[in-house]
Amino acid sequence: MAGVLTINTVEELKDVLFRIKSNGKSIGFVPTMGALHDGHLSLIKKAHDETEVVVCSIFVNPAQFNNPADLANYPRTPEKDIQMVEGFVDIVFTPSNEEIYPEPPTEQYNFGTLETVMEGASRPGHFNGVATIVKRLFDWIHPDKAYFGEKDFQQLTIIRQLVKDLNMEIQIVDCPTVREKHGLAMSSRNKRLSPEQFVLAGEIFRILNASTQIQPLTVQNIREFVMREINNITEFRLDYLEIVDATTLQPVESLDEHEGVFGCIALYINEIRLIDNIRYK
Ligand code: PAJ
Repeated sequence: MAGVLTINTVEELKDVLFRIKSNGKSIGFVPTMGALHDGHLSLIKKAHDETEVVVCSIFVNPAQFNNPADLANYPRTPEKDIQMVEGFVDIVFTPSNEEIYPEPPTEQYNFGTLETVMEGASRPGHFNGVATIVKRLFDWIHPDKAYFGEKDFQQLTIIRQLVKDLNMEIQIVDCPTVREKHGLAMSSRNKRLSPEQFVLAGEIFRILNASTQIQPLTVQNIREFVMREINNITEFRLDYLEIVDATTLQPVESLDEHEGVFGCIALYINEIRLIDNIRYK
């Protein structure tokens, strides 16, 4: 397909995709909340490489925000977003709130212990809101493949669980975290950082990265090191640091006996909340 087709309504989206699917084309889907950066673009490019028609949604989903100020301040750059995806995306879906939620959503998802930790514990209702929007988008788009970033490691795990629980035939493709030169994980919320805060935020990854080199590499040593380094920076306010099993997302006591172990962190710089993660094994 040539150029980007911008669609605002569910009806038109379903209509256009129905025609595309009757022609036997494979569909790749990248859900986003806009304010696109190179992290998003890496998902989009992967979808472009792997599927015939790429759909990208841009929708700041109120249902997943538990903090009204965060929702109000979430960056929105619609024109720039559309320019950025040109050449890689066939359809951009930019619905209004009313289009997605003509009535307040009532879906209730239960991801068990996957959502009682980290982002789920800090942001009550967040993953219910994420699952609500992603499930609706999946139902309208029926992609063959959908692309999610490892930056939101818990979200990726929960989306995999959603697809499994509901027997959806969608392949979830995980994409590595894209970082700024100084290591900060790219994020739409980074646009809210002042130049000084942006530089300082590079310390998050420096600290996480340095923690992988600790000898001996134990949960206690990692925790002590990261907490000490983070607490040294007065502008940082730690929300959580968890060393978790890569599959269950439950905190581990030791790195032995687990096939994969990740460190996940959330912290505030002023009122701007940033998350990141790193693999220990
Ligand atoms: P958003 O934060 O816009 O992210 C959209 C996708 O881009 C997510 O899969 C996220 O993990 C990925 N992403 C963000 N920053 C990245 C980076 N630095 N490197 C690689 N991938 C990155 O996540 C959401 O939106 C929403 O929760 C959504 C799934 C769209 C549901 O509303």
